[in-house]
Amino acid sequence: MKGTLSPPGNFAGQAGKCPKERLVIKGGHRLEGTVRTSGAKNAALPILAATLLSESTCEILNVPLLEDIRFFISLLHELGTDTSASFENRVSAVTVDASSISGYEAPHELVRLIRASILVLGPLIARIGRARVSMPGGCAIGNRPINLHLKGLELMGAEYEVSNGFVDIRTKGLGGARIYLDFPSVTCTENLLMAAVLARGTTVIENAAREPEIVDLAKMLKNMGARISGEGSDTLKIEGVRYLGGTRWSIIPDRIEAGTYIMAAGAAGGTLEITDTVPSHLDSAISKLRAAGMKIDCSGDSIFVESSGRLKSVDVITQPYPGFPTDLQAQFMVLMCLAQGLSVITENIFENRFMHVAELKRLGADIKIEGRSAIIRGVKKFTGAPVQATDLRASACLVLAGLAARGVTEITDIHHLDRGYENMEAKLAALGADIKRINA
Ligand code: EPZ
Repeated sequence: MKGTLSPPGNFAGQAGKCPKERLVIKGGHRLEGTVRTSGAKNAALPILAATLLSESTCEILNVPLLEDIRFFISLLHELGTDTSASFENRVSAVTVDASSISGYEAPHELVRLIRASILVLGPLIARIGRARVSMPGGCAIGNRPINLHLKGLELMGAEYEVSNGFVDIRTKGLGGARIYLDFPSVTCTENLLMAAVLARGTTVIENAAREPEIVDLAKMLKNMGARISGEGSDTLKIEGVRYLGGTRWSIIPDRIEAGTYIMAAGAAGGTLEITDTVPSHLDSAISKLRAAGMKIDCSGDSIFVESSGRLKSVDVITQPYPGFPTDLQAQFMVLMCLAQGLSVITENIFENRFMHVAELKRLGADIKIEGRSAIIRGVKKFTGAPVQATDLRASACLVLAGLAARGVTEITDIHHLDRGYENMEAKLAALGADIKRINA
């Protein structure tokens, strides 16, 4: 199958392009079969941003076909690059020629749709000394500040001002600096890493985030000629270089998507093989799921899952990598809602990432929120009901809940789901789920 992934035209009104679209799930079907993981959204976004650092052409492979990616491609167009996307035999490739960048502004209507637009900050300031990005503002899960990004760039010699909702940042030339991050922020680490690769001298980023997506970004930058060490640890050391060449780079598998399908088997029961994964990226989640009673074996790039009967309650605290990922918290909560006993899930990363709790209670969940913790008393079953998605991972959680529920569950506002999951209903239907997307 050949085609091109044309970026949306104007962005306004793009999000939720079919607000009436919803998913209808008839629960109670076990999942059986094999599902392939797509490329990681949270690696593809910084890696696409990093192509702005090179005056040569970059070809990025295994890019997931997601709304967030489509919007990011639009942003690269806005900045004057020659960017094209195509897919053939299920492999999607995005080619970026950033030899001439004619713009430096990430407009509000785009940043509003995808806060990861903030990832152009580092590359633009490093490449052309200027960037003007609409402040991303908050979202459903928290107020999502960028103070650490700006403080790090300031230490490297950038000056910025915030006015009319934009951050306007410029520099006569970035210099190496020693930067300690108050919090191991993922996109902040990525922005500073991308800024440092073209800065004069040495930059050390301490208390850096250690996520696999950052390791993938660092490896790609090194393939382009950057001089980086310490990726995957909490200290990154970067020796600035003058230029970066092009690259042909394939995105790592999406560990959050893989974890979501493992938990789908936990919710609905079933036997799955999840292929094209890096099992070690899910060590913390897999150990919790095994403790809850799921049978999980890993071999090569496959994860084999078997789950039947009622799981046991297990407590979880979300942490920066390699701790339990916040992006799997909502999905894990579904399993604990139906488990035997009492469990406590503590969300340490975002201040408002329990939006899915109210919706789960509509299905019959017994959850009490106390500060950053959700106290969950397992119930025997969910009963299907209409529910509303509020953010990306909450929408995935509601899909898993619908698979487990008796009767029909309808999920509205599923544009949230399309931001981070490629063809989720098709992948689940192929595994035996009764799930349909309807537009009416
Ligand atoms: C990245 O977001 C991911 N997004 C998120 O995935 C993920 O949940 C998050 O990391 C944590 O793993 C992408 O990679 C595109 P943070 P990011 O900066 O970088 C505070 C998904 O579902 N903070 O690590 O925005 C912030 O308030 C998405 O795929 C500051 O205080 O997350 C939050 O409490 C959701 N100041 C905490 O750090 C800053 O300058 C974690 O945020 C930056 C962050």
